Amino acid sequence: MIVGICGSPRKGATEQVLREALVILEKKGLATCFFTVRGKDIGFCQHCDYCLRMKKCKIEDDMQELYPLLEKAKGIVFATPVYNGGVSAQTKAIMDRCRALLAANSKALRGKIGAAIAVGGDRAGGQELALLQVHTFYILNGVIPISGGFFGANLGATFWSKDKIEDVKADEEGFRSLRKTMKRLVEMLNENEEKRKV
Ligand SMILES: Cc1cc2nc3c(=O)[nH]c(=O)nc-3n(C[C@H](O)[C@H](O)[C@H](O)COP(=O)(O)O)c2cc1C
Repeated sequence: MIVGICGSPRKGATEQVLREALVILEKKGLATCFFTVRGKDIGFCQHCDYCLRMKKCKIEDDMQELYPLLEKAKGIVFATPVYNGGVSAQTKAIMDRCRALLAANSKALRGKIGAAIAVGGDRAGGQELALLQVHTFYILNGVIPISGGFFGANLGATFWSKDKIEDVKADEEGFRSLRKTMKRLVEMLNENEEKRKV
């Protein structure tokens, strides 16, 4: 199963492209699961260190729904709107709250394949910085970060929404970067499976 995590508080462009990413994966035979921060209660990490002692997060909110999905998933796709040249605060909160998952099991995310999608209102509004933030989270936690490769998807999928769903739907370059990134994600998942069999 691949879990897609939408870090936008709106039913907007980020959700639109993440849903399309999951459709691409399903057409390639993969099961997917969509999780969004929209309408959810997801608090900030309080750095109380409860998780280090008790191996679970003290905050009983909607992260509790995401933890098992992250554990179960073979692949992760973070989709974030670009806020001030980086990921949204909601996306960052999820990453920080994963401390509890890793406190319980330091290998909880290890070896999973991770891709990222960034949607900015501007053409060059910080999408690549946002992708790098997600990739840094992946690297820190043993997730294998992937992009779609050169010629268009160097760090992953990047979109220019002009703050409208109609405009993100018309972003052909963005969808090319998405298709390339999802293709690489599937290839890497298959290669991982093959290696496990050996
Ligand atoms: C607080 C805030 C900061 C933003 N900062 C940026 C930015 O730095 N670069 C950019 O390209 N767009 C920026 N935007 C625009 C959003 O990235 C853009 O509207 C995007 O489509 C939002 O995703 P959504 O439609 O899924 O909510 C910002 C929007 C907000 C609300």
